[in-house]
Amino acid sequence: MTQAELVVVANRLPVDRVVGPEGELSWRRSPGGLVTALEPVMRRADGAWVGWPGQADIDVDPFEFEGTYLVPVRLSAEEVELYYEGMSNDTFWPLYHDVISEPRYRRVWWDAYVKVNRRFAEAAAAAAAPGATVWVQDYQLQLVPQMLRERRPDLTIGYFHHIPFPAYGLYSQLPWRRQVLEGLLGADVIGFQRVADAGNFARAVRRQLRYPTKASGITVPNPDGTTRNALAKAFPISIDTASYVELAEREDIRARAQEIRESLGNPKKILLGVDRLDYTKGIRHRMKAFGELLADGRVDVEDVTLVQVASPSRERVDAYMQLRDEIELTVGRINGDHDTMGHTAIRYLHQAYPREEMVALFLAADVMLVTALRDGMNLVAKEYVASRIDNRGVLVLSEFAGAADELPSAVRINPHDIDGMKDAIMRAIEMPAAEQGRRMRALRKKVRENDVATWSQSFLRAMDHAQTLNHAKS
Ligand code: G6P
Repeated sequence: MTQAELVVVANRLPVDRVVGPEGELSWRRSPGGLVTALEPVMRRADGAWVGWPGQADIDVDPFEFEGTYLVPVRLSAEEVELYYEGMSNDTFWPLYHDVISEPRYRRVWWDAYVKVNRRFAEAAAAAAAPGATVWVQDYQLQLVPQMLRERRPDLTIGYFHHIPFPAYGLYSQLPWRRQVLEGLLGADVIGFQRVADAGNFARAVRRQLRYPTKASGITVPNPDGTTRNALAKAFPISIDTASYVELAEREDIRARAQEIRESLGNPKKILLGVDRLDYTKGIRHRMKAFGELLADGRVDVEDVTLVQVASPSRERVDAYMQLRDEIELTVGRINGDHDTMGHTAIRYLHQAYPREEMVALFLAADVMLVTALRDGMNLVAKEYVASRIDNRGVLVLSEFAGAADELPSAVRINPHDIDGMKDAIMRAIEMPAAEQGRRMRALRKKVRENDVATWSQSFLRAMDHAQTLNHAKS
């Protein structure tokens, strides 16, 4: 097996497995921004990507795909249930999102998490060339940095946490809080979305492990009694801005935006929500606010429609099944109370769409509602802004989304304050074109300057810097 200078380790491979009509297998690049950002870097470095192919019990040999060497990690059906659905998405996900849903602490889930993390670490150790850089992604793999360092002390290791890191009062619920911190501290650079997340992490390390923390890093003891430095810092992730601009300029996509408006009966205003169907996104809060605006007579169903795209996600986890039922009940009630023969209050779509259709929707929408109760970043907010090349449209943005730190020109809301959210939605609906333009230009400047390539470059630079420091010490 070839060994790479740069290895990315993520729960999922950057490809989706497609089965053709005759049963033939092929792979298609998955649409995520991370994949797009890393592709040129991976090509240059002859990079490798270690990840799960997305289905249980399939054996796939490593293969080359568009300039990247892909190393599949096999998961059994039981491991998908315990490590992915259980520990990752029914323990860490709710705990790290401020216990919006109650996290469940199951020892068998933890055991599977440890075992699967070890498998990822072993695959990464085998894929990395001597002195290579390994970049681990997200909460499914928090133990990998330390496991990898034990096996391969020659490597430079980075870890990026795509979701929030909670305050210590919540984090300390975790029965394995110590092991997880030690796992993460195996990395030389530990990246977070917000300054507050990096702060919460450093506090947890001080309280739990009593390691000294400074702005320049955390002093971590080595097994031989020496110490090393681990940098914990915010690196806010972004999107591939240029590709959204390109799509928004396309004639067919602009025509599609017009067609969408017409198919909704040409309402005066279209409000839009685009989320994975997840309880962190505040979809119910948003619907409650909109339902009340209709009931109060502040908006008329003939004039204003809410389009809610809720893409299916983690459908075998109880909390997600329950949320789906609740949302669909709410949509049914609001529509039942307010629809007319020709107009619907909420157009609800439990489907996933290609990027082209999403950009058409962004162009069709007058107001984008991002009402997350907690969100690491929320890339949809940035995608909407990037697509509005006409400098029109209003972004309503929750202060609980990481994007709020970088996008102060959005209309800011607290999704728990339903009255405040109703007023903000009205303000967005009624906002004069000149103010929309002023705000949108400021927002667009931010996503142009800080795109996902800038993000990956600054993280890779931090890892380079860490490598230089480590070499100077050893
Ligand atoms: C969030 C997480 C990612 C995850 C994605 C989709 O953005 O930060 O790590 O891949 O959700 O969730 P899924 O469980 O389908 O991978």
